[in-house]
Amino acid sequence: MALPADDAETARARLDAATADLDPPMAVLDLDALDANAADLERRAAGRPIRVASKSVRSRPVLRRVLARPGFAGVLAYTLAEALWLTGGEDPVTDDALVGYPTADRGALRRLLSDPDLAARVTLMVDSPDQLDLVDAVVAPAARPEVRICLDLDASLRAAAGRVHVGVRRSPVHTPDEAADLSRAVAGRPGFRLVGLMAYEAQVAGVQDAPPGRPLRGLAVRGMQAASVRELAARRAAAVAAVRAVAPLEFVNGGGTGSLETTAADPSVTELAAGSGLYSPTLFDGYRAFTGRPAALFALPVTRRPAPGTVTVAGGGWIASGPPGTDRLPRPVHPAGLRMIGTEGAGEVQTPLRGAAATTLRIGDRVWFRHAKAGELAEHVAVLHALTGDRLTDAYPTYRGEGQAFG
Ligand SMILES: Cc1ncc(COP(=O)(O)O)c(C=O)c1O
Repeated sequence: MALPADDAETARARLDAATADLDPPMAVLDLDALDANAADLERRAAGRPIRVASKSVRSRPVLRRVLARPGFAGVLAYTLAEALWLTGGEDPVTDDALVGYPTADRGALRRLLSDPDLAARVTLMVDSPDQLDLVDAVVAPAARPEVRICLDLDASLRAAAGRVHVGVRRSPVHTPDEAADLSRAVAGRPGFRLVGLMAYEAQVAGVQDAPPGRPLRGLAVRGMQAASVRELAARRAAAVAAVRAVAPLEFVNGGGTGSLETTAADPSVTELAAGSGLYSPTLFDGYRAFTGRPAALFALPVTRRPAPGTVTVAGGGWIASGPPGTDRLPRPVHPAGLRMIGTEGAGEVQTPLRGAAATTLRIGDRVWFRHAKAGELAEHVAVLHALTGDRLTDAYPTYRGEGQAFG
């Protein structure tokens, strides 16, 4: 999403002026953009509460800011250790953390199971009785508080009698019957309480339906997503009904930033999840349903000029997870017209950049980048400098800045 030249220059001038006293590398969180993005997520959620996907935020003050809004409730955590950190202590970020993925962290389980308050605030994700066995092996049912459990229902699209799988590899529990079987297994065991069901349709929520410069792919993705939404609406409803016949669920979670409209339209879903849309990284540029405002940017300093028309910035290898490809690289956005060199990409300690703008950059100038994904940016910096209007108004520590690393 390239800005018109004048707007790009204004955006650059605003960032440069506000951070003039700081030395890069540094990251800025534009609170005006963040708040606008949060409001747009709320609008798209059409009244359903949004559980904030903390992996896509990785900063406690930012989570607090978002959770103070009326449209957001609860955290979708990415590890149990993180969920304990967010729900514990004097001033918890939340009293409702759903761990979005199964855990095998025995130490964290021991802490959860030794504290009834934490056990009431944290919900574990399972897709097999084996994960229940692990909990029992850490502390036997009779010696612990009840453990809150959510079932992970596979939301991928299967075609050709299961030979074609479109989506991510998460839970093996795909059919309503399989969900009912697992819910009976949970409900029949002492020490567990089944409270939720989650079905995350990654192939809709996390795949761009209008990828820039790839119209044919966009067409194919839109066809796949329409088929997937139809298929899932029927299957998720049947699975929810089957599980509700076993246990009175508190919530049914679904969706992500890219699917809020379609997930909110599914009456079997009681709450949504989203996080990436708050920062609006480059992998979320290519969706027809929404246009986010880039809220998280980082700056690197120009340190040398190896050749005419080329500058080198310090650092740069802030690469996103997922299938390796150029779409995982950070994108230089200010000044406009810079690109990486194919043979080097984003380097471990320095990154050469080419383009017309390189001729005007001097040593010590800064180049502004956007990350491909949201939360991973926060693993590279201790603080997100909070920008309001034209001024830095705060410095929000990241998880890393608070000495926390959850993998
Ligand atoms: C279980 C689950 N729900 C929702 C999301 C959506 O998060 P985001 O809005 O950050 O893409 C994810 C992302 O991977 C996820 O794993």
